[in-house]
Amino acid sequence: MNHFADKVVYQIYPKSFYDTNGDGIGDLRGIIEKLDYIKKLGTDYIWITPFFTSPQRDNGYDVANYYEIDPMFGTMDDVEELVKEAEKRQIGIMLDMVFNHTSTESQWFQKALEGDPEYMDYYIFRDGKEDQPPTNWQSKFGGSAWEYVPHLKKWYLHLFDVTQADLNWDNPKVREELKQVIRFWKEKGIQGFRFDVVNLISKPEIFEDDLEGDGRRFYTDGPHVHEYLRELAEDTGITDMITVGEMSSTSLENCIRYSNPDEKELSMVFQFHHLKVDYKNGNKWEIMLPDMKELKRLFKTWQEGMQKYNGWNANFWCNHDQPRAVSRFGDDKNAWEKSAKMLAMCIHFMRGTPYIYQGEEIGMTNAYYQSIQEYRDVESLNYYDIMIAGGKTKEEALKIIGERSRDNGRTPMQWNASEYAGFTTGTPWIFPPDNYEWINVEQEVSDENSIFAFYQKLIQARKDRLVIADGKIAFLYDDMDQIIGYHRYNEKEDMLVLCNFSGENMTVSLPEIFLKKKVFLGNYEKENVIEKRLVLRPYECVAIA
Ligand code: GLC
Ligand code: CA
Repeated sequence: MNHFADKVVYQIYPKSFYDTNGDGIGDLRGIIEKLDYIKKLGTDYIWITPFFTSPQRDNGYDVANYYEIDPMFGTMDDVEELVKEAEKRQIGIMLDMVFNHTSTESQWFQKALEGDPEYMDYYIFRDGKEDQPPTNWQSKFGGSAWEYVPHLKKWYLHLFDVTQADLNWDNPKVREELKQVIRFWKEKGIQGFRFDVVNLISKPEIFEDDLEGDGRRFYTDGPHVHEYLRELAEDTGITDMITVGEMSSTSLENCIRYSNPDEKELSMVFQFHHLKVDYKNGNKWEIMLPDMKELKRLFKTWQEGMQKYNGWNANFWCNHDQPRAVSRFGDDKNAWEKSAKMLAMCIHFMRGTPYIYQGEEIGMTNAYYQSIQEYRDVESLNYYDIMIAGGKTKEEALKIIGERSRDNGRTPMQWNASEYAGFTTGTPWIFPPDNYEWINVEQEVSDENSIFAFYQKLIQARKDRLVIADGKIAFLYDDMDQIIGYHRYNEKEDMLVLCNFSGENMTVSLPEIFLKKKVFLGNYEKENVIEKRLVLRPYECVAIA
């Protein structure tokens, strides 16, 4: 059994979680204060997105110094207290390591800019004329992936923002520096790590123009990535800890290698293919409804494929880079509660370790902002300008940003119905949607039928039923696009999970072996008699065992 098969992880985006000093920005003390809430939910680990010193161009994913805490979030003492307090509650803390790049304000990059050859070799600098970037590669945040430094007469590579310079992993000194960071935090009692876009770290030997795309096929799952990951894990002694790699545009074959325990690279992987099924022509900035056929195909491919070769998925819908699942795959107007629960069951009972993103457990929705002024994210603001420049009207661009912005997942955690959702006593750095008056923690923890209560049950079920944590999986109902249905099984148990992703009634016929079983969990009044056919109303889900 995978070491982390019966675990559940809760992701915290500290800036938006809870503010204790009224500056409008969530902080580390805010996490300490809310540990009992997380304990009540029942997750085993908390992954906290970066709180290290950073100019915050990309909200902390532009790290300047891993050995210091950004004052905006608190102090090293706060982190130590957080680790201790979490441990008392049997919760492990996982940190986010952004090792593909650093902020251009990092000491290393500053020295490189001074022309120090030792530090220039920490990054990817290439010669070139001022008007001719070394390749035509595009940054994932828009524009060229290269930036010219006039006084050095060289370009540096940045796959993300221009203030996020890519590190040169082919340089053993860089790898050693990064191992030091891991060792430092491990000694502080950190229990696991999430590695940001870690399949992009190994760049090709030769840099050439991409005549088919934006360059990603040259550096994604690059030539030495497996070797570097194994080295990092072995040399820092984290092979038995929980580690999850964020994999950008990856492949099943590579993810099997990243996460198969025999390879000693990572314990699990995030991949994003299922979160692109509503990108028109693969373009994030063109909207369409989710392609359910494709979503089903992807779940089947990844779940069964990883199982076959002993890989391990981290299962998720939401994170700080994604719009809210209930607004995207559910119906947050007419079936808010049902669709939030259905989406939760759908991934929690699959094979893999589930991740819950703050607010998902209470059904938080997209932001529904009315003007571009309310957005904060560098990617959204860049693409808004790009779309306007490309001929879209302001209204069209705003509509697309409204659906696709990462800020949808970054609105303040909705604690209660008081002003700004009880997130801060000051003015929040980003505003909550109006629905905090009825979607909030206070309201849900006291309601035994709430979305929160449903998440508690899903987490507990993983602890109680081995078939959920460790059973095999087989997908069913290939011909019903709107139903995601799968069979979990081991020698002793069988479980059937059915999720209706549509706003219509769906009639599903049940395999023989389930006819004598009972409803184990569902998001509607239980009909305990299981017959040959079952009608699932809009967004209903059920697990039969
Ligand atoms: C990952 C992070 C995202 C960040 C990017 C660059 O995708 O989740 O927030 O902007 O990497 O570090
Ligand atoms: Ca604060």
